[in-house]
Amino acid sequence: MIFKHDVVIVGTGLAGLRAALEVADEYDVAVISKVYPTRSHSGAAQGGIGASLGNEEPDSWEWHMYDTVKGGDYLTDQDAAETLAKDAPRAIYELEHMGVPFNRTDEGKIAQRAFGGHTRDFGAAPIKRACYAADRTGRVILDTLSSEASRRGIRVYSEFNLVDLLMDKGRAVGLAAYELATGEVHVFHARAILLATGGFGKVYKTTSNCFANTGDGVYLAYRAGIPLQDMEFVQFHPTGIYGLGVLISEAARGEGGVLRNREGRRFMEDYAPTIKDLAPRDMVSRAIITEIRGKRGIDGRDFVNLDLTHLGKQKIEERLSDISSFAKIYVGVDTSTDPIPVSPTCHYMMGGIPTDVDGKVLDMNNTAIHGLYAAGECACISVHGANRLGCNSLLDLVVFGRRAGKMIRLDLEQADWPDLIVNPEVKSLIKLKGILNRNAGEKAVHIRNALQTLMTKNCSVFRDEKGLRRALDELSTLKARYENVVIDDRGKAFNTDIMEAAELESLLGLAEAILVSALARKESRGAHFREDYPERDDANWLKHTLIQRTDEGRRVFYKPVNITRFEPKARTY
Ligand code: FUM
Repeated sequence: MIFKHDVVIVGTGLAGLRAALEVADEYDVAVISKVYPTRSHSGAAQGGIGASLGNEEPDSWEWHMYDTVKGGDYLTDQDAAETLAKDAPRAIYELEHMGVPFNRTDEGKIAQRAFGGHTRDFGAAPIKRACYAADRTGRVILDTLSSEASRRGIRVYSEFNLVDLLMDKGRAVGLAAYELATGEVHVFHARAILLATGGFGKVYKTTSNCFANTGDGVYLAYRAGIPLQDMEFVQFHPTGIYGLGVLISEAARGEGGVLRNREGRRFMEDYAPTIKDLAPRDMVSRAIITEIRGKRGIDGRDFVNLDLTHLGKQKIEERLSDISSFAKIYVGVDTSTDPIPVSPTCHYMMGGIPTDVDGKVLDMNNTAIHGLYAAGECACISVHGANRLGCNSLLDLVVFGRRAGKMIRLDLEQADWPDLIVNPEVKSLIKLKGILNRNAGEKAVHIRNALQTLMTKNCSVFRDEKGLRRALDELSTLKARYENVVIDDRGKAFNTDIMEAAELESLLGLAEAILVSALARKESRGAHFREDYPERDDANWLKHTLIQRTDEGRRVFYKPVNITRFEPKARTY
């Protein structure tokens, strides 16, 4: 079937929904999602959304911008950071007016808490900047925006998996999607397409990401010849539940929790003497691994403890109830009496589809591609640079989701209907039927497990040339094995088996982009730490990486960082 809408948005997380709300009054907009909207991964965000409201202590957007730039180890494009920090208070009040139930101060203002890397006076001390709803901030914002979208009658196609991005003569003209309930491939023909497909933490074995986060939008853009930006910058959140990766919010440390090693020492004092446990995530993750390597993990094992016991039962129940229940359910820990075993977990991708601050997707010449937009984690604006600060992601989604929606509205005043390419669904059908009809081969799960293990071993918090090269070699073997992927389920209704096999192509392609970009960058910056090049090297590497697929093979090239206010300095905390 061919569906026709002025605008098709892929993804029902906060970026997609916020953009849809911006466009819906004037144009026919549809949102497709591989999950039911309220199951989008934005709902898993816990600790908060940043804005310099100054409700708890004086704050300013300049401090917020500075923290974002410094947190990103100066790879952040500063025009984007300025937009984010300046627009943040407006974005929070907008959410409040839509009905988001933020926690309140005693005076009835929106309450705020401390978060990693957020400071006052350009780095002097931690500041309370994260607005929150206990430790389920993403959940309440997602529910509010989804209710609003349904109140406004926005058309949602749930459980439709993106399987192809249709481009013609350098313009986006539509997409193909697989309907899980029926096994049909449908075509969506549109004047504007917004990709808001989220991250791809499932490239790694241990991750806070949900199963749906396989990066299909990012990969299909890459497959279509669009370059990907800064893919080497993968964020590991310091506090995943040991062995599982389930997120224990940074809010736990924002509320006063501390990390301890086997000696019971608050080791972050050694790594970030000014802001200690509230240092940016890349630094805290490296500190934890350094402690573990130095045999100071708990009982000499590969985790440390997150201690909340001194916070008291009441505070924990009021502000950190979700993470406390996770600790109870998954590891049997009562957080009011015992510490939680934690280690870094893959959490967020700073890299993705290059866009400008209005969500327009940029090609290899840094020129906007007609009809194609991206917002949220799948996009690289680059507002987070080499390392995103906690509570800047939810903010990014609503600020830049809205801006992309506005831009689409403006562009649609001029945009004609593109012709749809001939037989638009054929490529997807060939691919899916190829998998469906194959009788012998290897199941996706084995290849995926091997991929996640190799990425975790060779391209995590620490990397070096030897490991990255080894990973690339092993990856080519996995890609060859993928050519023979087989499935058990041959049915049409709810065939998740075939979708998992299709998603694996995305994971393999994105892993390759991460590895090649990481191998090329011969310095350490933010979340990309090369043990063979441990220093940041601004003279040679203060630039964004771009990787592109061409007929001649992969091409890696670079573009400058936009520096407006803050010249790069040594990054101490
Ligand atoms: O730790 C957290 O609550 C995560 C927040 C974020 O990634 O922004």
